[in-house]
Amino acid sequence: MTVCEAPGKVYLFGEHAVVYGEPAVPAAIERRATVAAEPRDDDHVRVEAQDLSLDGFTVEYAGGTGDRPDVDVPRPLVEAAMGYVDAAVEQARDAADAPDAGFDITVESDIPLGAGLGSSAAVVVAGIDAATRALGEPLGRRELAERAYRAEYEVQDGQASRADTFCSTMGGAVRVEGDDCDPIDAPNLPFVVGFDGGAGDTGELVAGVRELRAEHEFAADTVESIGDLVRTGEDLLAEADADADPEPALLAELGELMDFNHGLLAALGVSARSLDAMVWAARDAGAHGAKLTGAGGGGCVVALDESDATETALSFTQGCEEAFRAELATEGVRVVD
Ligand code: PMV
Repeated sequence: MTVCEAPGKVYLFGEHAVVYGEPAVPAAIERRATVAAEPRDDDHVRVEAQDLSLDGFTVEYAGGTGDRPDVDVPRPLVEAAMGYVDAAVEQARDAADAPDAGFDITVESDIPLGAGLGSSAAVVVAGIDAATRALGEPLGRRELAERAYRAEYEVQDGQASRADTFCSTMGGAVRVEGDDCDPIDAPNLPFVVGFDGGAGDTGELVAGVRELRAEHEFAADTVESIGDLVRTGEDLLAEADADADPEPALLAELGELMDFNHGLLAALGVSARSLDAMVWAARDAGAHGAKLTGAGGGGCVVALDESDATETALSFTQGCEEAFRAELATEGVRVVD
């Protein structure tokens, strides 16, 4: 049995604008998806998933999609999770030149699903890594990230940037601009996450921004402004000492940019009442800055605060289901002994 675990991520800056070629800076966080893969003697794939939501499930089917038995769990959840596991298995089969390889797969995750924390990317990255290693064909990180991107792209009908999968593979903070992805140095930022218990519809939200941008020049300008803001943030990170605790001045400046980024995302129509409430609760508690992370519409916000005040305030905020501190995951996907 081969077990790999990959981190989720927060967007420090740049979601949505990244779809139009602007840069974005996601950062991996110490919340991980764990995938165990055991090769089988036949071409079946048996998937057992726990903690992907409140319900776990087990399902077995013979190679490829479309041949699954009915299972007594919410269909959208099963379809979503199965889609990602399927796509990961297909990428592993292709990479290892083993089209008939079968697996027993177990998925566990402590990353809220579909909430802007890169849960699906983490499952895909850990899944491809575990399955290729189980077949004795481990991949280099760049190839793993590329294959994970292709898997997400396929499941999400082309609505995927490379940000989540690259960040989950590499760990730390990364920079994504179009097809160019690179790790960047960043100090261990004091991330605090607030989760409203829900999820936005990424496809719908991306389509909404696309329409606005096509219709109004000021919306297109807003997208460009997000790009300018990301470049300013990148410069700040580049000047910082990645091995030391972040200076208060750096946190203040990054926080200001996060606040600005949230405002621009809200202008593009992708925030939500619950997200705005959590952002304001974090700011009132003294956070350096706060913004939604990911597609928006519901899900998570990320704030910067080295004290416990923001986490405590969020946990008492109406609409916040869970608040937690999230360490920067300096290591990306890794094998679990
Ligand atoms: O919600 P997430 O973590 O899947 O992020 C979506 C980010 C978008 O920029 C809106 C879309 C994308 O694929 O980059």
